[in-house]
Amino acid sequence: MTHPMTKEDFPVSNIRHFLEPGPIVLVSSQWQAQTNIMTMGWHTVMAFSPSLIGCIIAAGNHSHDLVRNSGECVINIPSTSLVDQVVGIGNCSGSEVDKFKAFELTPGKSEQVGAPLIEECYASLSADCTMTPWLNATTCLSLRS
Ligand SMILES: Cc1cc2nc3c(=O)[nH]c(=O)nc-3n(C[C@H](O)[C@H](O)[C@H](O)COP(=O)(O)O)c2cc1C
Repeated sequence: MTHPMTKEDFPVSNIRHFLEPGPIVLVSSQWQAQTNIMTMGWHTVMAFSPSLIGCIIAAGNHSHDLVRNSGECVINIPSTSLVDQVVGIGNCSGSEVDKFKAFELTPGKSEQVGAPLIEECYASLSADCTMTPWLNATTCLSLRS
């Protein structure tokens, strides 16, 4: 038999602790000669077919410029063996650091987009990207089939 739960006030600014159960991914991107990687937790499936992912790549991130200019990226799914790289990549900027070199990751060729995939990740999903101007962020990733 279930019982009513006791509820407490909770600051909404910390709500991510309850609403972010999905996998943390690494988003790789390229614009002209520059490549980059960022850590992403704010993503969700929005449609099956054609496959659409909603996400936030904040405008302050260096990745945002590369993704906005190229219109593409790769969503890479890391295993737990990459946890140190995942945290490190999410705490520095590609405007100052070559993250493939600094975190000893291998850029691979995607068959569908110009952005490199990450060889050490167990899955890599190539995507076209669109931006929502009023949010000033990249917000939708349409997966290439
Ligand atoms: C676990 C984790 C999850 C993150 N999720 C996001 C996210 O979904 N969207 C976002 O814009 N930034 C997110 N970040 C922050 C970026 O990864 C971070 O600002 C990174 O330094 C951006 O790199 P860049 O400036 O080279 O693009 C996350 C960071 C961590 C550690």
